[in-house]
Amino acid sequence: MTDVTEASELLTQSATFGAMTEATKLDWDIIAAHNKVFSASLTDRVIDHLRLLDGDCGGFSVDRLEHSVQTATRAARANKSDEYVVCALLHDIGDTLGSYNHPDVAVAILKPFVSEDHLWMVEKHGIFQGYNFFHHFGMDRNMRDDFSGHQAYDLTVEFCQEYDQPAFDPTYQSMQLEEFLPAVQDLFKSPKNSIYLKSDGVMMGEN
Ligand SMILES: [Fe+2]
Ligand SMILES: [Fe+2]
Repeated sequence: MTDVTEASELLTQSATFGAMTEATKLDWDIIAAHNKVFSASLTDRVIDHLRLLDGDCGGFSVDRLEHSVQTATRAARANKSDEYVVCALLHDIGDTLGSYNHPDVAVAILKPFVSEDHLWMVEKHGIFQGYNFFHHFGMDRNMRDDFSGHQAYDLTVEFCQEYDQPAFDPTYQSMQLEEFLPAVQDLFKSPKNSIYLKSDGVMMGEN
């Protein structure tokens, strides 16, 4: 039996255990085969979630989806790397679920796929963006200074000042969301950081 035949056979089956302690190797091979298929459509699920921002302006002059696409467009037009542009596209995806910590949601999605500096940039963009408005609420707009000296400090200042904060312009001609999908798909193909990556670099259940 070829590997392909074996995988397609596994996809016709379901594990039979009711408690993990009862599971067999076959059960886990079945689950791994299904998971491989499911993981391949991660981009679709993430983009579907991003689309939830469509029509939600939250008092801004553009909705949160346009803000996301506009931020990514500005980064793409500045010739930033695909990885950076995907971070820009997804940096506010947590607005739907993380009302009090939205950057952390994007971090959780991007963590397996991007560099430490890009991840830090996404994580800290909430604080660094505060430079542009915290003072209007009597808060310290220079909260970002707590991180001065960090290797990704300048990167994060640039992201917020050049691409994130100007991306509320209703007259800006943004790219279409669909134009970013190949870059998202490409990035999500190769997780580099996961508890399910084995020491030989192979994803659990994929060999
Ligand atoms: Fe944000
Ligand atoms: Fe933003």
